[in-house]
Amino acid sequence: MKTRITELLGIEHPIIQGGMHFVGLAELAAAVSNAGGLGIITGLTQGTPEKLANEIARCKEMTDKPFGVNITFLPTLTPPDYPALFQTIIDGGITVVETAGNNPAQWLPMLKDAGIKVIHKCTAVRHALKAQSIGCDAASVDGFECGGHPGEDDVPNFILLPRAADELEIPFVASGGMADGRSLVGALAMGAEGINMGTRFIATQEAPVHEKVKQAIVAASELDTRLVMRPLRNTERVLANPAVERLLEKEKALGADLKFEDIIDEVAGVYPRIMQEGDMDAGAWSCGMVAGLIDDIPTVQELIDNIMAEADGIINERLRGFCA
Ligand SMILES: Cc1cc2nc3c(=O)[nH]c(=O)nc-3n(C[C@H](O)[C@H](O)[C@H](O)COP(=O)(O)O)c2cc1C
Repeated sequence: MKTRITELLGIEHPIIQGGMHFVGLAELAAAVSNAGGLGIITGLTQGTPEKLANEIARCKEMTDKPFGVNITFLPTLTPPDYPALFQTIIDGGITVVETAGNNPAQWLPMLKDAGIKVIHKCTAVRHALKAQSIGCDAASVDGFECGGHPGEDDVPNFILLPRAADELEIPFVASGGMADGRSLVGALAMGAEGINMGTRFIATQEAPVHEKVKQAIVAASELDTRLVMRPLRNTERVLANPAVERLLEKEKALGADLKFEDIIDEVAGVYPRIMQEGDMDAGAWSCGMVAGLIDDIPTVQELIDNIMAEADGIINERLRGFCA
């Protein structure tokens, strides 16, 4: 399939694997790129420039196709060494960067000078327009149903995507709730040039996470996610578990007085315990409503091949049939 996104990124299928903390390691990024999509290494999981350089090198050993690096701007008092992380990306010969969490304007000159394509992840049309105005090459438009941080506007993709299509000139991918060929065709119909998936890629053979994480996604329905940290204006969609219920009780009890320190046990530093050790109740971890559409753990190649075959069938048989 040829779209503005496949052309821009030099990939075969318009499918991107979004950055995911403690999931987006070289194994998954390489598997996605090898299957014709765009795999993305999550920069902040590595933390230091040295470790990121090592992860980029590991990924290059596993694929000769293009892959990207995600850099997320976090609301934190002690920020990571962003200048050195971006320099590492440039030195590593990376051709695509996914930014998220805040305006990347400050970093665009150095990335553009190095010929890197920048995809900015946005949860609002106004943010996507801003990304376009500062020179981003593409946007990843993340609807309310997404796993991770959906922002504070709560606009689902059936509204957000056509709104983005009405306003944007740069190409964009649909993110949040994407799982299969139906998602891809729906996204294309609404003006997107491809899809970005998070949760769906965790439930694959190659995702380097504990088997219990994959099984939890397969077992979950679309009713099993919760929104946490809304009072802090840092809303995150996570899978329900006892730690999340505890966190929500604290939010309810403290109301507007809630501070990050009150919920630190449920959210800080829990990812390695969940993703690597399979301690499923260690805390809150991002998961999309799309879990309700996930009931298998295929290889990444099978997943992407199935999406493309299903999309082809929908376009050329089901939809064409309606127009006959
Ligand atoms: C476990 C997990 C961790 C994530 N970590 C990050 C991250 O560190 N940075 C980021 O920009 N997005 C992160 N995301 C968001 C994804 O990149 C993607 O935008 C989102 O999952 C799309 O929604 P979906 O899960 O419905 O496919 C994460 C998502 C999940 C499920």
